[in-house]
Parts: sequence; structure tokens; C-alpha cells
Amino acid sequence: MPVRTWFPTEIYCEPLQAAGLAKFNAELIDECRNLRDYDAAGRKWSAKNYPGGYTSYASMNELHRFSSTFAGLEKKLLRHARDYARTLEFDLRGCTIRMTDCWVNIMPPTAAHSLHLHPLAFISGTYYVATPPGCSGLKFEDPRLDRFMAAPPRRTDCKPSHRAHVTYPAEAGNVILFESWLRHEVAANRVDDERISISFNFNWS
Ligand code: NI
Repeated sequence: MPVRTWFPTEIYCEPLQAAGLAKFNAELIDECRNLRDYDAAGRKWSAKNYPGGYTSYASMNELHRFSSTFAGLEKKLLRHARDYARTLEFDLRGCTIRMTDCWVNIMPPTAAHSLHLHPLAFISGTYYVATPPGCSGLKFEDPRLDRFMAAPPRRTDCKPSHRAHVTYPAEAGNVILFESWLRHEVAANRVDDERISISFNFNWS
């Protein structure tokens, strides 16, 4: 074929660790729910900005600095972030990759998270703590979408990499990493149980 592919958008998805996920997640579930009970400012912010759900995004967004459980998670996630950065072939010789933000999202039925990106970071991601069957996945948008202008729609049977969106299912124990400029959203949770995830940003210096 005379055609080659350039400028890839690379998304990382791996289990956090090979074993012991159920125990680690059980600890995290408790801690996330306790945090919601304790974080009045976060509940107030969420009522306005995250209808139906709870996020510590605006109130307690450095959880890895204040909780040993989250500090443990940071350590595990850092390994994945380094692997991902290596795959992306960033030249980080002499630099340090650091987790800058880490916050909890609890989505009861109907809660949703509209399209957004993560400014001031280079790698962002989510770790899934509780994912009731049928809960919403993480939907990414083709970053070139606003430039297609006169392009016709794709064939419905086109290959996945040609589609304008891709949705990664939310699976407890999995880490998803993406470049922070990539817009994403979570559709309204349609199942009865709470979907719990932890989001984070990495920066480098
Ligand atoms: Ni996000």
C-alpha cells in the first residue's frame, strides 16, 4: 500500500497488577465512600457541577499526598505511566514524572461526565475501583474531529481506528492512560450500583 499512517493517538489499558486486586479495591472502595462522607465541600461542589454524583476534583485532589492507600496507588500507577511514556517515546532523560492530581469519582445511576480534557498535564488516566456490570465506559473522541470540515462520513463497517469515537469499557482493576489533550467523556450511568473510579494527572520536570 502506498499509504502509511502518521500521528497516532495511543491509549494504554492494563490491569493495575497481576494479583491481589480484589483486596486492594475493597480497601479503596471503603476509602472513597469515607471520603465522600467526610468531604462536605466536595459534596457541595458536586451538587452544582457533577449532578447526582460525587467527585473530590475541586476539594481534595491530591489524595496521594494525604492517604497511605492512595500513596500506594500512586506508586503502582507511576510504573504504568513510565511504561506508557516510553511507548510514546518522550525524551525524559534527567526528568522526573510526577503525579500532580488524584481524585475520586463516584457515579450513582444517572450521573454523567461531559466531554473534557485535562489541562496542565501530559499523561492522565483513570483507575477503576468498582464497576457494576453494564456501567458506562470511557469514551474518547478523535482529536481531529473539528478539522474534518468537508470530509464525508466513514463507512459504517470501517476499521475501528478510522472511527470518530472509541469507548473503553470500565473494568475494576484496570488502568487506562491517555495523553491529557485527548477529549473524553463518560455517558450517564444506567445501572443501579455506584461506579467508582479514581482519576489522576501526571506532569514532568
Ligand atoms: Ni477526565
